[in-house]
Parts: sequence; C-alpha cells; structure tokens
Amino acid sequence: MRREGTICLGIESTAHTFGVGIVSSNGEILANENDIYRPRSGGIHPREAAQHHASVAHHVLRRAISRAGVNLGEVDVIAFSYGPGLGPCLRTGATIARALALKLRRPLVAVNHGVAHIVIGKLTTGFKDPVVLYVAGGNTLVTTLHEKRYRLLGETLDIAAGNCLDVFGIKAGIGPMPAPEEYAKLGKVFYPLPLHVKGMDVSFSGLLTSAEKLLEAGKAVPDIALSLTETIYAMLTEVLERALALTQKKEVLLVGGLARSRRLQQMITEMVKIHGAEFKPIPDQFLGDNGAMIAWNGLKMFLSGHETSIERSFVKPRLRLDETEVTWD
Ligand code: FE2
Repeated sequence: MRREGTICLGIESTAHTFGVGIVSSNGEILANENDIYRPRSGGIHPREAAQHHASVAHHVLRRAISRAGVNLGEVDVIAFSYGPGLGPCLRTGATIARALALKLRRPLVAVNHGVAHIVIGKLTTGFKDPVVLYVAGGNTLVTTLHEKRYRLLGETLDIAAGNCLDVFGIKAGIGPMPAPEEYAKLGKVFYPLPLHVKGMDVSFSGLLTSAEKLLEAGKAVPDIALSLTETIYAMLTEVLERALALTQKKEVLLVGGLARSRRLQQMITEMVKIHGAEFKPIPDQFLGDNGAMIAWNGLKMFLSGHETSIERSFVKPRLRLDETEVTWD
C-alpha cells in the first residue's frame, strides 16, 4: 500500500553514529535505525569512524527500509547532514545520499545537523518557539530562534560539558557517560568545585582539572563524580535560566546526547517552574545523533522549496548553527 504524504529518507554521519531515518509529512517517524562506531581505545578516530560508516551503511539502510514498510521507490526526498562534523564521516554520508538521489532520481537536501537536533525536538514536544540548551560530547550552547536564525546566546569557551564528563570517566577508570552519572548516585561527599559562568558562556576545563586533582589525591570516585556532575548541571541550568529571563520565552528544550541525563532534566524541571515556563524531555532515541532528525528537517526544508544540487552538495565540517537561515519553521 502506498503511504500518504511526502516521504523523506535522512542520513546522519557527522561523528560516531551512522543513522538512517524515514519520516512522512504527516509527522510520522517510520524508521530510525543506526549503528554506532565505538573506538577500541581513546577518542574517536575520524577515518576509522568513516570506514565504520561505509561498512555498515547498506545494513542500516536495509533495516530502515524494512522497518518503515516502504520500498526505496516510494521515497520522495533524500536528506543528509552536511555539517558540522568530522570531514571523513560527513563525506561518507554525503556520498551515499548523492548516490541514492541520482539512482532514484529524487531531490537532495543538505541539512544543518545542529538545527536538526532542535527541529526534531520541536516535533516530539510540540513546542513552537523554545529556548534551547544543546549539550553533547562536542557541543555546549544556548540558542533560540530570532529573525530566522538560531542565534548563539552563550556557549562553552573551551571543552563541551559532555566531553568534560567523558574524559573524567575515562581517567577515573569507570568509562564515559553515562558512567559518571551512575557513580554520582553512590556519592556521599560533595566537594565544592569552582563554577565558571560568564554571562551565558561557560568553561569546563578548569573544572576537569579540579576533578583530576581530587582523583590524584585518592578521593572516592563516586564522591568526585557527584561533585562534578552536580556542578556542571548547575552551570548549565544557570545559563539556561539567564537565557529564559532575557528572552522571556515560555518553552525550554534540552537537546543533544547529554540531554539524556535524568539529573539535568530534573534540575531544569525545577528551574522552569520559577519562570512559569514549560520543559518537556525529548524521547531518548531522538536525543543522540540520529537519522530521523535529518529526515524530518530535510522534509520540512523540501516542502518549503529547498533543494541542494549535486554540484553544491559538498560538506561543511565547521558549519555553525547560525549560518543556516531557517525559513521553514
Ligand atoms: Fe549531534
């Protein structure tokens, strides 16, 4: 049976995740399949991650098609994330997207990955004009839509919040997130750590050094994990509160991989009450990088007249959130 509406297939490949999502213009997410590259040791290696994406792409694509109950011929639009991200990973996704668009003779749409995180959040929460805290392994920023662009109200001046927690967890021997948050639940002692908040900007590298010093001094890992997570989440809640007070908006979205943190969600729930605003968590499967967010954002762009020619479909590893003019939302 032919599905109603316009169907878009989206490809996500900016970093660890190779994802394929399929969505329909009635707002239905028909499939959201992914395969995540896990480095054997240390951080992400861009070329290894790209090789991973190339080797799993056909499996993920097949799974998505079968989960969605469509055949490839029924797909009307192909979307892909063209930045920001790791060059080799982005190019792998873009190559697959171009090949599909050419083979199926369908239009191609290049999507800003950061904007897509927000746009899928708006779909799943029903929010219209939120203030957004975007927190992940590589991003920490506060933004809101103003005159057709997601303006940066504040950001980290050094490392991302997720990166700070991941590095701490690895150094403590418990592994990256969510391990630090799990260990924090067992913590009994809170060590006051320095808060680095300037306006709506934050900084985490000094905090990481302080936590490392506690590790070297032989303090219990759960206690340090408790102190570090509580301090980071308090800083993030603080800048979000400042953004809310400035913009006077009434909706709050928390997006990106670190947005899965139940403790951070809890702190934000408490904070918004003071401002008469509303916060709704996004379902976990749409918080980390995923293909559905690219498909949904690509579909909205396509329906408002956007299309990317093959010749202009190059990737932009350093693409910024506010580089994209949002004319479809
Ligand atoms: Fe992301």
